[in-house]
Amino acid sequence: MIVTGTDTDVGKTVVASMLALGLGLRYFKPLQCGCRPQTDVQAVQRMTGLGADKVLETPVILTQPLSPHRSAELDGVSIDLESLTPPLGRCIVEGAGGLMVPVNRNTLFIDLFAKWKRPVILVARTGLGTINHTLMSLEALHSRKIDVLGIVFVGDENLDTQTTLSEMGRTKVLGRVPMLDKLEAENLNQVFKRNFTREDFGTLS
Ligand SMILES: Nc1ncnc2c1ncn2[C@@H]1O[C@H](COP(=O)(O)OP(=O)(O)OP(=O)(O)O)[C@@H](O)[C@H]1O
Ligand SMILES: [Mg+2]
Repeated sequence: MIVTGTDTDVGKTVVASMLALGLGLRYFKPLQCGCRPQTDVQAVQRMTGLGADKVLETPVILTQPLSPHRSAELDGVSIDLESLTPPLGRCIVEGAGGLMVPVNRNTLFIDLFAKWKRPVILVARTGLGTINHTLMSLEALHSRKIDVLGIVFVGDENLDTQTTLSEMGRTKVLGRVPMLDKLEAENLNQVFKRNFTREDFGTLS
């Protein structure tokens, strides 16, 4: 399954770490732009304690913390889209930024997601501004007939926003990850057990 978000920095890596632990799946980040303060793979390793069998290597790492199309140009790299394809079998795949982030000047991340045909989880904030970003993201996914498993919220509970997005976005809410003091395996496992239902994530890739 693919973990995408309404924006950069919404909490995709935190949610992906929780799901890798809770569902016992591998984590794969196809494309990383910028390595400071750490890559997403390093963040997942730290948060989960999972080893190289579960946290897969990122095939394309670019140096600049910019949109991939520009970061690749500045590094003098032409991204081979095939090399970004997730491995066979079930795993958690984290995209870079949001859905309409250009991988190169002809291809957006959402185009790759449509091609990969894996169900998508949308990570969204609970705070002000999220309704617009979330509804636009869901409309883009629905209009391309991409299978959406549901929304995972990050932040303080905001029941009206969460219900509004589920109803107006015609999408299930999978659960919410509160802001945590310590991002470590024990806390992430606890949040998954308390706030999520394993069956909602199906058995497909
Ligand atoms: N539930 C949470 N509790 C505490 N801190 C959080 C939580 N979710 C996210 N953060 C913090 O917010 C920041 C952004 O989170 P994260 O790296 O998961 O976002 P992202 O969507 O993966 O970003 P990117 O687009 O760079 O991949 C990080 O510093 C992370 O530690
Ligand atoms: Mg991330």
